[in-house]
Amino acid sequence: MNQVEIIEVGPRDGFQSVKAYIPLDIKLSIIDELINSGIKHLQITSFVSPKAIPQMQDAQELAAYCLQKYPNAHFMALVPNLRGAKTAWETGIRQISYVVSLSERHHVANINRTRAESFADLLNIQMQYPELEICLDLATAFGCPFEGRKHEQDVLGFIKPYVESGIRTINLCDTIGIANPAQVRKTIRAIQQVYPGLELQIHIHDTRNMGMVNTLAAIECGVTKVQSTLGGLGGCPFAPGASGNLATEDLVFMLSEMGYELGIDLPKLIEAARYQTKVIPDAIYSGHLHKISQHI
Ligand code: COA
Ligand code: ZN
Repeated sequence: MNQVEIIEVGPRDGFQSVKAYIPLDIKLSIIDELINSGIKHLQITSFVSPKAIPQMQDAQELAAYCLQKYPNAHFMALVPNLRGAKTAWETGIRQISYVVSLSERHHVANINRTRAESFADLLNIQMQYPELEICLDLATAFGCPFEGRKHEQDVLGFIKPYVESGIRTINLCDTIGIANPAQVRKTIRAIQQVYPGLELQIHIHDTRNMGMVNTLAAIECGVTKVQSTLGGLGGCPFAPGASGNLATEDLVFMLSEMGYELGIDLPKLIEAARYQTKVIPDAIYSGHLHKISQHI
């Protein structure tokens, strides 16, 4: 089964890296383009404090509009606390990414609370919204700008209480693009060995041009859901030096050439990436394909 599901996270991870507010109709037009090219899974926004991430101030309106317009798409949103989960649920979102960092220092910088406090809040979310599907977004899973390299033993120890609390999906995020394929394989295999039933996803930033090889390493270890952003738009405002993400269209090109079934129209996706660079010109794009004028 050569099937991989692409989860487009540009409308969250990409847009949040853009300083100037992107008007809602522009955001929605990019989401339209993505869906028209065959993308079915999208992280469309985050329910966070507008003081922390002003770009996401329109989360509720955007999510409500998308849910109504595309009832068959799979939309999820990032959430940092109970308040975010409540708003997401009330807006109609049924799948959230609950963000925590493997590194305590990055976690505090990002969420302004300790990892222990975030874990306690997760238990509240699970109790109050038992039907909410929760993916644990594990930031700095391979290394942290403040604490340095992370290892598979760090990940295993950290996720234990989460798995015991009922978490069934974990997204390994290389927030600062520090991972290498050997580390990705080692981490994934270690998790698979201890938790064979756990679903793993991967989310790699392209800071050191390692987005593609690390994502491929994960896929070749059996990961079937991978995250990327249109045009490679992205970054983490709380991780110094973070750059763009792995570009969705570049990933789609590689995987389709390798024979993976994705159900995505590549020319349309490249057009979508070009459209995005026109409407959001002041941003970091780590992708390659949308910059090439001729495609064979
Ligand atoms: N959605 C909207 N507003 C929220 C919120 C949420 N999920 N959580 C808190 N707020 C509001 C509070 O109501 C309060 O508003 P007020 O000042 O008008 O009363 C304000 O934000 C501060 O609330 P507080 O609980 O003290 O939070 P904080 O200042 O300690 O910030 C977070 C904590 C988690 C809300 C904030 O750090 C955050 O949103 N971080 C997200 C970071 C992020 O998205 N990073 C990138 C993704 S990896
Ligand atoms: Zn990211």
